Amino acid sequence: MRVNAAIHRDFAISNIDDRLYAAFIEHMGRAIYSGIYEPGHPQADQHGFRRDVAQFVRDLKIPAIRYPGGNFVSAYNWEDGIGPKADRPVRLDLAWRSKESNQVGINEFATWANDLGIDMMLAVNLGSRGIEEARNFMEYVNHPGGTYWSDLRRSHGVDKPYNVKMWCLGNEMDGPWQIGAKPAREYGRLADETAKALRAMTPDAELIVCGSSNDQMPTYPEWERSVLEECYEHVDYISLHKYFGNSSRDTLNFFGKIEETGRYINAIGGVIDFVKAKKRAKNDVHICFDEWNVWYHRREEDSRRWRTWDWPEAPDLLEENYTFEDTLFVAGLLNEFIRRSDRVKIACIAQLVNVIAPIRADKGGKAWRQSIYWPYQLASLYGRGTALRVAVDGPKYDCEVASDVDFLDISAVTKDGTVTVFIVNRHLTETLDLRLSLTGYKDASIEFHKVIEGHDLMATNGPDAEPIAPADGKGLAVDDGTLGGKLAPLSYHVVRLKV
Ligand code: AHR
Repeated sequence: MRVNAAIHRDFAISNIDDRLYAAFIEHMGRAIYSGIYEPGHPQADQHGFRRDVAQFVRDLKIPAIRYPGGNFVSAYNWEDGIGPKADRPVRLDLAWRSKESNQVGINEFATWANDLGIDMMLAVNLGSRGIEEARNFMEYVNHPGGTYWSDLRRSHGVDKPYNVKMWCLGNEMDGPWQIGAKPAREYGRLADETAKALRAMTPDAELIVCGSSNDQMPTYPEWERSVLEECYEHVDYISLHKYFGNSSRDTLNFFGKIEETGRYINAIGGVIDFVKAKKRAKNDVHICFDEWNVWYHRREEDSRRWRTWDWPEAPDLLEENYTFEDTLFVAGLLNEFIRRSDRVKIACIAQLVNVIAPIRADKGGKAWRQSIYWPYQLASLYGRGTALRVAVDGPKYDCEVASDVDFLDISAVTKDGTVTVFIVNRHLTETLDLRLSLTGYKDASIEFHKVIEGHDLMATNGPDAEPIAPADGKGLAVDDGTLGGKLAPLSYHVVRLKV
């Protein structure tokens, strides 16, 4: 099947914020404990952090990480995680019916993140707590010294403030499952007043207000309108969350959910524009897609398990085994984020280690990279710069969630004399014969071509073998300003061109 596509060097979408490739990690399951942190593990460093896991994280070049939750944050006392470890209380984690030892708190997490060159994006508890705790937390984290909380931090051995810029005003506050969930207006007022307090301390803080927990919530998108009407001028981003699955085993419909995500982004973009106009506001609010991933392989089973278990510590929870089908899905979703980088400035894969994660780590054992690690890594490494428009004229399909879905899913990014194209052939059986015209890039040549293809859709990686990984691709060539060649069915390609 022939597909014609075109990019033009002067037709850009937007500069891509590097934080489009951010991540999220929560105190839940084995994400922190026996995920990134496992004192006594043969790979543990002097702080107890696993070097093998850290190396996989480092290789992703993650710009920022959201912490410590998630649902967890809505009943979390951040003060429990500071000071001598022996004195820290064990608490019940009400979100996941687990025990929280508090052996990792803000200072340990900052040590880990700083070592990996990752900026922290901290969430404050607006569920069981409020403005007072949020401002104390920020004072501990960001104030240089000479006050109660900043001097307490210094007494804990951290002389310099962390100067954290990104702050999330709670988590999924519309969700009935959330400790301290609130109606939209009430939450919007609280977010506005919390924003005022946080900005008084850190004027250049970037504040993220909670949108709906997902686009299927009964109050979506009215929630966003009401919340933004209360706080628009004092926030910089509104959060979107969406998890995906293919329980019905309909691959094309699964891929169609990427189009559905485009509609979600459009809808929230419209709400932002509406509120901005209504308030005659001068500032812009962008989208922070701070939880996204595939989550369904073990979702129901896990949900049954954790709702009745007896408050275990660091239990096996949401340890999804990702498939090759998920690789293609994640590649496509990242393409959508690149295409929508005018609106979506921050996006966080949820989560990073063990819990619905690209990296897995067995307790006392090996760490490995799941199938979704690779599209995330390739986008993070090569998807920075300016997003280019890509016009596509090729075969399409209809499915339950979307119509006119292109079999060719493509995005393009330019930076420093390169253009990188990210391509998924979503067709189940047909090879696509690509002709991508590179207008304005007369002397383009291929620098490298990486491909992931040829696996069973349900194939997975594991601790002993990682068969799903990028290989060198062949069969694509640039001829007279056109990138052309055959793309096998169900294949993912990253082609970097020198231009
Ligand atoms: O990432 C797992 C959970 O999903 C988070 O705690 C919550 O914010 C979302 O519902």
